[in-house]
Amino acid sequence: MKITVRKENPSGLACEAVLAFHFEDRKKPFGLAAILDRLSGGAISDLIAAGDFEGKLNQVAVVYPSRPVPAKRIVLVGLGKKKDLNLDKLRGAFAYGARQVRGLKVKRFAAAVESGFSGEPLAALTEAAVEGAVLGLYQFTPYKTIDRDKIRAVEEMIIAEDDPDKYRTIRDAAKTAEAVAAAVCFARDMVSAPGNEMTPTVMAQKAREVAADKAVKCKVLDREAMAKLGMNALLGVAQGSGQPPKLIILEYMGGKRGEAPVVLVGKGLTFDSGGICLKPAEKMDEMKTDMSGGAAVLGAVKAVSALKLPLNVVGLVPASENLPDGMAYKPGDILKSLSGQTIEVINTDAEGRLILADALTYSARYKPAAIVDLATLTGACIIALGDYVTGMMGTSDRLKEDVRKASEATGERVWELPLWEEYHEQIKSTIADFKNTGGRAAGTITAAAFLSKFVGDYPWVHLDIAGPAWLATDKPYIPKGASGVGVRLLVRLLRNRLKTT
Ligand code: BES
Ligand code: MN
Ligand code: ZN
Repeated sequence: MKITVRKENPSGLACEAVLAFHFEDRKKPFGLAAILDRLSGGAISDLIAAGDFEGKLNQVAVVYPSRPVPAKRIVLVGLGKKKDLNLDKLRGAFAYGARQVRGLKVKRFAAAVESGFSGEPLAALTEAAVEGAVLGLYQFTPYKTIDRDKIRAVEEMIIAEDDPDKYRTIRDAAKTAEAVAAAVCFARDMVSAPGNEMTPTVMAQKAREVAADKAVKCKVLDREAMAKLGMNALLGVAQGSGQPPKLIILEYMGGKRGEAPVVLVGKGLTFDSGGICLKPAEKMDEMKTDMSGGAAVLGAVKAVSALKLPLNVVGLVPASENLPDGMAYKPGDILKSLSGQTIEVINTDAEGRLILADALTYSARYKPAAIVDLATLTGACIIALGDYVTGMMGTSDRLKEDVRKASEATGERVWELPLWEEYHEQIKSTIADFKNTGGRAAGTITAAAFLSKFVGDYPWVHLDIAGPAWLATDKPYIPKGASGVGVRLLVRLLRNRLKTT
């Protein structure tokens, strides 16, 4: 969907549909809704008076004004209680509105970003509106061949504002949000794609697409290059697969020359069968999403380069399959990682931490200002925090605080779990330096404790996105399936760095 911002009055725009909003605890319509109500001879207030529309959050009604309003339909969306409205709820409300428009088979609709929504700055409101509409309309359809003509898509959202200052603010913020939302959809598409089509090789091609922007450099290390370096933890995982593994490297150096970059590391397991420690068949199909962290990293670099952020950012995605065959790595095997430290494989299904170990070690060559990794790392994280929450662990309080702030701003929920010394005992091996599992207790934390051994002294945060990467049910602006979680969080984290450093 294209986003257009026009310098005109939203109530005067002739179009198939216009979005208008109403608070549950306000008797009368406000802003654009109030104007449309007047023009239509009270069509909206009649609806409210009849008790047919209360303005409950995400409630939707369509009004067909009998008196001429330039717009043919008014799509009315509830915002709930005025004091409860925040940016995340606004994203959801725009998503509901946009999907109603799509349901009406309308291709083009108008909307306004109104200061009456909440006390947030106009730019933030605009970003929320655009993100909500674009992300809420997302659908993954390339594999549907029957009745393709029935697939509906909205082509354009027109945001109208006649005040010249506000118009400029909205225009710029809409551009930003469009780039960020496109990067989220890019990540969602990669995660939604089936494992047979989203192989490590194809992920590397996707990274090269990101590097079509001249500001981004892409390097891909193949099996031989990784063997030369000694990335045997990553290569161990890849051993049982016919698909060659890749270490994908994206460098965006938009900041000062020589300034330490932020390194983003994303788990790129394009299919996780569990390996020799094979997973049960039920829901194994969902393990095509085990590259969600990698997709988020590629998406974040894509957004950062589109926004031309004056920052240095490196994306690292270790990409591999985890499959069992005669060559596959086995429980009991010992792998010598890139760091030189040895790892005893207890469970071949704890593969994510192995490929991440080598990627984290590799990140030291950038002498990073910060390292953030994202991974669908443990089922235990879903047990601990549920489906919608990212688990956070790390070594830097400052960086964790920055992630929390980004979480609040984006609505991508993050909750910290401790990484105390005691947990490190669980991953000590008798015959090697470490073992790759620490037992059932605190599985998310011991996984992070394992990763910490490969980070060095750089400020580091690990985000376990096993829960929110893939949703079983719809959320207001995340249709069920691939969420693209992490992209907005990372972009916000990086944008915030520009304010503080
Ligand atoms: N990719 C999985 C974790 C996962 C499970 C993500 C379910 C999303 C949904 C990971 O590689 C894995 O298999 N972890 C094991 C670790 C265990 C063997 C220590 C797990 O969580 O069971
Ligand atoms: Mn696994
Ligand atoms: Zn995995």
